[in-house]
Amino acid sequence: MADWSAGYVADIGYTHGYYHELNPLRIKLAFLHSGLACPDVGTACELGFGQGLSTNIHAAATLTRWYGTDFNPSQAAQACEMAEAAGSGAQLFDDAFAEFANRPGLPDFDFIGVHGIWSWVSDENRRTIVDFIRRKLKVGGVLYISYNTQPGWASFAPMRHLLTAHAASQGAEGRGIVNQIEGALTFGKELLALHPRYASTDPGIAKRFEQLGAQNRSYLAHEYFNRDWHPMHFSTMGEWLDPAKLQYACSANYSDHFDNLNMSEEQKVFLQNIPDRMFRETVRDFMVNQTFRRDYWVKGARVLSPLEVSELIGKIRVILVKHRSAFTYQIQMDGGMVELSETIYRPLLDLLADYQPRTLKEIADTLAPHGVKFNQVIEAAMLLSRIGQLAAAQDAKVVSERQAVTARLNDYIEGKARSGADISYVASPVTGGGIMLGRFNALFAKAIGEGLEDVDALANYVWSILQAQGQCLIVKGERLMEPAENIAELKRNAQDFLEKQMPVLRALKVM
Ligand SMILES: C[S@@+](CC[C@H](N)C(=O)[O-])C[C@H]1O[C@@H](n2cnc3c(N)ncnc32)[C@H](O)[C@@H]1O
Repeated sequence: MADWSAGYVADIGYTHGYYHELNPLRIKLAFLHSGLACPDVGTACELGFGQGLSTNIHAAATLTRWYGTDFNPSQAAQACEMAEAAGSGAQLFDDAFAEFANRPGLPDFDFIGVHGIWSWVSDENRRTIVDFIRRKLKVGGVLYISYNTQPGWASFAPMRHLLTAHAASQGAEGRGIVNQIEGALTFGKELLALHPRYASTDPGIAKRFEQLGAQNRSYLAHEYFNRDWHPMHFSTMGEWLDPAKLQYACSANYSDHFDNLNMSEEQKVFLQNIPDRMFRETVRDFMVNQTFRRDYWVKGARVLSPLEVSELIGKIRVILVKHRSAFTYQIQMDGGMVELSETIYRPLLDLLADYQPRTLKEIADTLAPHGVKFNQVIEAAMLLSRIGQLAAAQDAKVVSERQAVTARLNDYIEGKARSGADISYVASPVTGGGIMLGRFNALFAKAIGEGLEDVDALANYVWSILQAQGQCLIVKGERLMEPAENIAELKRNAQDFLEKQMPVLRALKVM
């Protein structure tokens, strides 16, 4: 373990994740739906940005000035390279939190994002983070923070302890973290095969452990193998953030806003009868067995009148960000899969299927003759956003100002797709955020940018890149060994890309 890492896993880089919750444009819908005013975000900061994909996308696609740090120098170098390629002006550093907190020249921030950090660092680092927020978050500013939560980890926490204890006792540091992970996973599997009484207390334990085996090793290293790992109750979190004068605003996970779909009527009423907001959230975590919270906190909550809320929410522009055929009228909620009403969603998707931004008011006015109400439009917009089918759109003027910057970032990302599938998002100046795009689609987009047009040309372009590196496609777990099979599969992908992805990507000004 490196000296600077303070027990944090540093010998394997983190995944190149993109997190919508770190996009400040998402705050507005969540806050207004909760009856709260929210700030315009001119300055933002991400603490522990990992590979820096989210920060870079948001810095390229919006007018917000972004700052951030991650003390892993390889990750920080990668993030800085991306910022430079885009020319976004993002100011990214490899400082540890304590150093960054004292860095001269940092502005005060309207938004601070801390995703996947809090549960994996020491109390000392948590105190540094809270003090930074206390000093640097503006009045009215918003904190987004995610963390492992109780009671969702109660039964599985001993397995995490076992994995790290195995690595410490049986794994030789010199053999590297991936070997330690493999050894610990094998050991855990052998243990559970013996039906220890611990696992019989909760049948979910064995299943959850089995799922670990399929996870990306970089993710497992950072999630499970740090010295620090502290799931926290919501009320304890409130106590931690109190010195920074933060109040809980609402969940950043839009589906948490609709308990009518998350729990039974009796459970909902039980919660509604708890007058203390903070205690109610704690109890809610028991109701849904919460494992991971994604929350907004605010320095100075301001409650708006219902009139102000409906006027402001009506002005939010939204756009479909996936082909409408991807929508299945279903959504995974806390209590299981829920069917979404065709009466509401069909006309809504029909209207938005031209992939043009519209305000929520405009949508509600158009759908009123179908019997769809304003609050149903808002609920649908939030749930569609939750499943990645829709996103808020920026003003046309901002879109045109950022288009050149996102184009440079996307060129960089598409260039990376030649070698591998690490980065699976590109930036849209329309949504100010990331759009999921797998490796082959990124390469098709690149090929089209280079003047290729038809299915054959696209498939051959991608195949020549794969073949030169001795790579082939894997379909349903089987490697395609023959060039002709690979090209045929790539043609199918290219056809789908031209019909379904490209119109959306063009509307989002990704291409
Ligand atoms: C689980 S990763 C999450 C990364 C990113 N936020 C994401 O979700 O993709 C935690 C990150 O925090 C960084 N980190 C941990 N302790 C830190 C510290 N004391 N100062 C700065 N960065 C730190 C690690 O290098 C790592 O990239």
